[in-house]
Amino acid sequence: MLSQCYLLLLLSMVSLTPCSLALPFEQRGFWDFGFDGEAGGLMMTMMRDEEGSGSGEEMLPEIFPLCPFGCHCQLKVVQCSDLGLIEVPKNIPPDTKLLDLQNNHITELKEDAFKGLSNLYALSLVNNKIWKVHPRAFSPLRHLQKLYFSKNLLTAIPRNLPPSLVELRIHDNHIKKVAEGTFSGLGNMNCIEMGGNPIRNSGFEPGAFKGLKLNYLRISEAKLTGVPKDFPESLSELHLDQNQIQAVELEDLSRYKNLFRLGLGYNRIRMVENGSLSYLPNLRELHLENNQLTRVPSGLPDLKYLQVVYLHSNNISQVGMDDFCPRGYGMKRTFYQGISLYGNPVPYWEVQPSTFRCVYDRLAIHFGNYKK
Ligand SMILES: *[C@@H]1O[C@H](CO)[C@@H](O)[C@H](O)[C@H]1NC(C)=O
Ligand SMILES: *[C@@H]1O[C@H](CO)[C@@H](O)[C@H](O)[C@H]1NC(C)=O
Repeated sequence: MLSQCYLLLLLSMVSLTPCSLALPFEQRGFWDFGFDGEAGGLMMTMMRDEEGSGSGEEMLPEIFPLCPFGCHCQLKVVQCSDLGLIEVPKNIPPDTKLLDLQNNHITELKEDAFKGLSNLYALSLVNNKIWKVHPRAFSPLRHLQKLYFSKNLLTAIPRNLPPSLVELRIHDNHIKKVAEGTFSGLGNMNCIEMGGNPIRNSGFEPGAFKGLKLNYLRISEAKLTGVPKDFPESLSELHLDQNQIQAVELEDLSRYKNLFRLGLGYNRIRMVENGSLSYLPNLRELHLENNQLTRVPSGLPDLKYLQVVYLHSNNISQVGMDDFCPRGYGMKRTFYQGISLYGNPVPYWEVQPSTFRCVYDRLAIHFGNYKK
């Protein structure tokens, strides 16, 4: 009874981590739940280091289930991180839900790597040296929902990902291209994080994202020079910070009517074309910090739900009275919770106080250069 609760807790810890809050660089130790190691794991691995012939396995008493040598197996969680493994170990218990293989030296996923693991829910391969994936390597994983593939050497997103997949993190690989049909059949996919790859706008083949109903997409730290126009229109979060985007043009955002959050910080944006933000009626949060804007983008007062706008560290030299708030209170449904303007050459004593008439509280405005 107790152990069942523990498992549920583990699973819910993993599944409740919302895409938007899980930062890509903090995956190290993601599954470090601090097992106490007294139950079974260690003893069991000491007991069975013979290369599991079927008959030998049957002789083991049930209280010592299978566990690959050196790994820690408990409550359907198999931890094999930091073991210097060069391939996926054999004899992973078939009822495993979470398999952690991060921080090893695995180079390849062979056809039978995950044989029999039809109950697997989450798989971490983070920080290995994987450059090759057999086209059928994932086919046994009929219930896999989360695949963590960051920090490897892949040059393309693996084909034939399990149709059950919900979340894919493939940050910091060598991906330059996303071919048409890469994600076909992945109707449950919700979240893709693929930043830190050297991909350019031309690397997305037309139809690369066809069929996906994503909520969250992050392609930061890449080589994009503009906002790609054919990401899924279902997106509610799009993060394209730390690219080389130079402008937001009128039609760039026209597809993304469901966006709540848009991240375009740390680019080279000089201009947000007049009218381009009007396609985002639901926007809550807009990040344009560390760009080269010379004025506050037009259209902010018409965004009824906009609450947070980052404009710090740009080249904005003047702020007009109607740059943020509509005239009168008619349109705006929510007040601003945060506006950052520091690190701009605007003489802030010249900005009319009424410019911020639709801001929740004075403390919500970060002005001047004191935060630099
Ligand atoms: C932006 O466009 C709107 C209408 O499309 C217009 O009323 C407004 O004056 C324009 N603003 C600028 C700065 O060009
Ligand atoms: C900032 O804008 C001014 C024009 O308003 C321009 O002369 C200057 O070169 C810009 N600085 C940078 C760093 O882009």
